[in-house]
Amino acid sequence: MRIIRAKDYDDMSRKAAHIIAAQVILKPDCVLGLATGGTPVGTYKQLVEWYDQGELDFSEVTSVNLDEYRGLPREHPESYWSFMHRNLFDHVNIDPAAINLPDGTNMDAAAECARYDEVIRRVGGVDLQLLGIGHDGHIGFNEPSDAFDLGTHCVDLKPETIEANKRFFDGNVDLVPKQAYTMGTRTILQARKVLMVVNGKAKAEIVKKSFFGPVTPEVPASILQMHPDFVLVGDEEALSLI
Ligand code: GLP
Repeated sequence: MRIIRAKDYDDMSRKAAHIIAAQVILKPDCVLGLATGGTPVGTYKQLVEWYDQGELDFSEVTSVNLDEYRGLPREHPESYWSFMHRNLFDHVNIDPAAINLPDGTNMDAAAECARYDEVIRRVGGVDLQLLGIGHDGHIGFNEPSDAFDLGTHCVDLKPETIEANKRFFDGNVDLVPKQAYTMGTRTILQARKVLMVVNGKAKAEIVKKSFFGPVTPEVPASILQMHPDFVLVGDEEALSLI
């Protein structure tokens, strides 16, 4: 595990974007595992800026996203499909056919999860997986539980996660979907490189617990301690307890 200390959110975003840019430059036809949430927005913004300046080319990149709300149509502004287009895909030259997310409108969970695992297998696995972290240590939507889930699966979101994500749904918990499809822990661990971005005081405790506490499915992110190439880029506040 490598920990990179950033001064603040902008510095964290720039450092993370540098690592992703290096991946795209080293292997133009790489598979990027991408994440949603507030934390990576600045990282995507920086990548778009470098793309605009002619520094980056996404034409051969394939993307696989971590997760998607179950039951939300793509067109919904808070679907992760919309989030990714708004923050990155609409602004760079990635091939639309090379963009992959779980399909939240396929209500047949078993079929959709099997399809998504097959997509990840077909593209050859993930070269670099970007992650944020939930306040309870969830990665993607792998919530705390008594065992690590392996492949793509359907999850019931924890009340804390629904509460944390209501800010994207007019502050109304009733509008937040209660289930999601998420890449499993094994798939995340199989990524050849894992990059986590984290900022703010509110995440300091979970960062300490995840990376300096025991490896346990009660704290899903703790499994990343076992990854051979895991990079954590955090701002001063998020890393203040370690
Ligand atoms: C959601 C996403 C996660 C993300 C988490 C934290 O639950 N499924 O991938 O890491 O939120 O989000 P934020 O970065 O906004 O704190």
